[in-house]
Amino acid sequence: MASSTDYNFPTRPRRLRKTRNIRRMARETRLSTDHLIAPQFVMAGEGEREEVPSMPDTYRHTIDRLVDHAETLHDLGIPAIALFPAIPDQLKTPDAEHALNPDHLYPNAIRALKDAVPDLMVITDTALDPYNSDGHDGIVRDGEIQNDATIDVMREMAVLHAEAGADIIAPSDMMDGRVGAIRTALDDAGHTDAAILSYTAKYSSNYYGPFRDALDSAPEDKAEAPTKDIPKDKDTYQMDPANGEEAVRELLLDLDEGADMVMVKPALPYLDVIHRVQQHSDVPVAAYNVSGEYAMIKAAAQNGWLDEKACALEALTGIRRAGADVILTYFAEDAARWLAQ
Ligand code: PBG
Repeated sequence: MASSTDYNFPTRPRRLRKTRNIRRMARETRLSTDHLIAPQFVMAGEGEREEVPSMPDTYRHTIDRLVDHAETLHDLGIPAIALFPAIPDQLKTPDAEHALNPDHLYPNAIRALKDAVPDLMVITDTALDPYNSDGHDGIVRDGEIQNDATIDVMREMAVLHAEAGADIIAPSDMMDGRVGAIRTALDDAGHTDAAILSYTAKYSSNYYGPFRDALDSAPEDKAEAPTKDIPKDKDTYQMDPANGEEAVRELLLDLDEGADMVMVKPALPYLDVIHRVQQHSDVPVAAYNVSGEYAMIKAAAQNGWLDEKACALEALTGIRRAGADVILTYFAEDAARWLAQ
């Protein structure tokens, strides 16, 4: 319908939205496969993969299958994977000793990956939860998570991972002082080239549920035995979801201790934190689009309520726009395929 010619808006933002090509030119945020890190679960055995029930299309792979899968991810142009081990319950102990066994599932997986696909960066996780019979990232004594005793173990874990070929060590535990302690341990062992990606602002989030299913590492399950004095949540070490300033304090500590990259986790409920951390950081910022964020989109898509591809790409773009340089996401493989179309 023709309208009055009296209007004389000096600025019409819609001019830059008129066509697909002008939108491409005006676009502020890029999402590419360069920005994607694929988390991977490894389990014992051979020739098998198991779907994580609460994470459709995400699998625990045995080492041989993981290597095949890593080749696919590498061929798709994904620069890195973040590796997590599913350790059988009978190998879990209160002191998580199995984490330091030089010949167990995790270092064996790192070696196999670096052997077969050396170009693919392997990010390893140093935290005790996959190995801890109490389901915590640290050692529990008298109902309390022990900061410094946990760091003693993590330093050795980091060196073991670097020896197996890990490119990047990622402490996901939130113990105080662990970045500096791990840096020193790596350097003392001659691994000056192993980088540290710190889980700098990791929140005590309810969105980790499906991940804890994948590794059978939920503290509330482990704490079921009435004789045990085990905290059911991670609130004494992971951050309070209500806090934003504190993320900057954690960032400054991690930078001071020598973190090469820093991370905010989860991503979508914490976009403001990603932005804040990015504003104060002089190193690359990662964000972890966690298992619960993935499960929500998957479940809605399975019900026909959301368009999976469109919503996943929108979420990843939003995380980039907030300030993340790289994103750990279970959508990495699909997103790499979608972005190549
Ligand atoms: C534990 C760890 C967790 C995740 C990564 N490392 C869970 C937790 O802190 O309980 C969660 C990742 C996800 O939910 O995708 N160190």
